[in-house]
Amino acid sequence: MKITNICCIGAGYVGGPTMAIIAQKCPSITVTVVDINEKRIAAWNDEDVNKIPIYEPGLSDIVKEARGRNLFFSTEVDKEIDKADMIFISVNTPTKTYGMGKGMAADLKYIELCARQIARIAKTDKIVVEKSTLPVRTAQALKDILENTGNGVKFQILSNPEFLAEGTAVEDLNNPDRVLIGGDLDTTEGRDAMQALVDIYSNWIPSIQILTSNIWSSELSKLTANAFLAQRVSSINAMSELCEKTGADVNEVAKAVGMDSRIGSKFLQSSVGFGGSCFQKDILNLVYIAKSYGLNEVADYWEQVILMNDHQKRRFAAKIVQTLFNTVSGKKIAMLGWAFKKDTNDTRESAAIYVADYLLNEQAEVVIYDPKVTEEQIFADLEYLGNRSDSENRRLVTVVKSAKEACNEAHAVALLTEWDEFKDLNWNQIYDNMLKPAFLFDGRRLLNKTDLEEIGFDVFVIGS
Ligand code: UDX
Ligand code: UDX
Repeated sequence: MKITNICCIGAGYVGGPTMAIIAQKCPSITVTVVDINEKRIAAWNDEDVNKIPIYEPGLSDIVKEARGRNLFFSTEVDKEIDKADMIFISVNTPTKTYGMGKGMAADLKYIELCARQIARIAKTDKIVVEKSTLPVRTAQALKDILENTGNGVKFQILSNPEFLAEGTAVEDLNNPDRVLIGGDLDTTEGRDAMQALVDIYSNWIPSIQILTSNIWSSELSKLTANAFLAQRVSSINAMSELCEKTGADVNEVAKAVGMDSRIGSKFLQSSVGFGGSCFQKDILNLVYIAKSYGLNEVADYWEQVILMNDHQKRRFAAKIVQTLFNTVSGKKIAMLGWAFKKDTNDTRESAAIYVADYLLNEQAEVVIYDPKVTEEQIFADLEYLGNRSDSENRRLVTVVKSAKEACNEAHAVALLTEWDEFKDLNWNQIYDNMLKPAFLFDGRRLLNKTDLEEIGFDVFVIGS
């Protein structure tokens, strides 16, 4: 089975970069990314490649190379579904905000809509690939919808979870630790479909790193990987609080522990809490699935990872209030960073949002600077919480264009995202322009505490 036309539904943080790399590595395949969001597609097609809607180091060069050659962005979903031999589903699967499973289960509304659309349009056999992270056994639902169209078209469903991390998406796609492809191993058609996808990845990935498995294992592996990663962050964050009480230093602990090859050194960076579109959503989803099978102990075990993360965000914000003599009302707090990690403009579930919300409840005046996040996005994130009206948010929050401006006449600075540029700020000048005592709260352990204390700052570093 040779694939010549790929369509990807969903031009987001997953669909966009993944398809750009496939197009770059496989010039003989036409790759079209479709999305119902016209503004997003227009941005992907912007003549100036620096205006593509997703900020990822290295991505705009790849788009520049492949776009118009064999990489296309379009809103003509029906037409592209019809043309494709292989369709990736990369639409969002947010946590449900209503009804059964509210606040826990993944909302599969968009996935189902895609399946129904494919079923309605398809006139030739197609391979449908789940790229979005989904609850285990979603492939069964897709199959049920696709196989009951009655028009004789045959579908093969594969699971091919994405393991890229934002900020390093290009590198992760170029050199993945592994690619996972789940499918129907029991039939020739199933195995052929899996091979077709293996052949695509083989254009740049050594075959030893391309794993095939049954479809349920593949779906569950993605949830498991994210749960384990998030668990490590919550584990080290739990230790950070204990370090603060005992005089231990969390970086020293992480280093000593991480050098044990059975534990490993990655993902032990203590922080103000993990964010991003995946960790919380996937763990909630895992908890929900476990509960639905009556596995309450399994559910409670994983839920604790989220509870710890919520605690970490809250206690960082509370520390600011306590340190500022138990009130921040009317005080200016500069927040450096809004994205959930450096090198991305994505803010979903960013710890900064929750810290800001806490401070706003305390009537602080919050001034925010992030190198890549727009003012529009920051106000949208605050409004999404639903705790205050947009006009109230705008009364208390100001978004500025530089860190220096944010810190001017501030009572305190809170560092929320580990952007490299924050390391090189002129901290002497910032100190001079702040109110005294000048407090600094480093939620990322990015800055040198001793240097800052020498300047005159009162410094709190998470985990020290
Ligand atoms: C999303 C999920 O968050 C992640 O769990 C999953 O693994 C992949 O999909 P991401 O790419 O980051 O990841 O989401 P997002 O940036 O929101 O992009 C999804 C896109 O799908 C949006 O641009 C949206 O407009 C589009 N979409 C959604 C459609 O084109 N059709 C739909 O029916 C629904
Ligand atoms: C994650 C997974 O890493 C990726 O494999 C999956 O496909 C999607 O979810 P992402 O959310 O993009 O990727 O970023 P990641 O680097 O995992 O960071 C998630 C959050 O954890 C960030 O807020 C980050 O700052 C935080 N983090 C990460 C820590 O606080 N400490 C660490 O040691 C690592």
